[in-house]
Amino acid sequence: MLSRILEEELNKQVNEELFSAYVYFAMSAYFDSENWKGFAKWLRIQALEELTHADKFYNFIIDRGGKVELLPVEKPPKDWKNALEAFEEGLRHEQHITQRINHLMDIAVKERDYATQSMLKWFVDEQVEEEANFSEIVAKLRLAEDSPRALFYLDHELGKRDKS
Ligand code: FEO
Repeated sequence: MLSRILEEELNKQVNEELFSAYVYFAMSAYFDSENWKGFAKWLRIQALEELTHADKFYNFIIDRGGKVELLPVEKPPKDWKNALEAFEEGLRHEQHITQRINHLMDIAVKERDYATQSMLKWFVDEQVEEEANFSEIVAKLRLAEDSPRALFYLDHELGKRDKS
């Protein structure tokens, strides 16, 4: 059985993951509208991955005898200045999610809730990958600066993503 505080915090995390999906769907729509189809595709796949994260927390709450309570999802931003600004925001967002996962782990450790710790371990590892993915793209976008040729190449490369 989950403690009340963990049940509440895990429900908040379902919301955080749904908001992550919203942010990446919004970014994907922005890039589609600007005809950067590769960036749009990468972010759309990322958004779908975030839905699977929300689903993992959702299922875990139920499996542990808790109650899922869906909270309102905040409206995401709509426009960005360019690809670099969008992916920098993505990176900052993932750093925030890492802090959230660490916060959840702190509570689970304090409460000696081993099942929650075990579930969260997957997310601890996942966040290393999430931050690394965004960091790498941000670094490449910084290198590309205002070179259309480099940006077209990056757009093409990111468009090859076919799974989360
Ligand atoms: Fe579910 Fe990208 O963190």
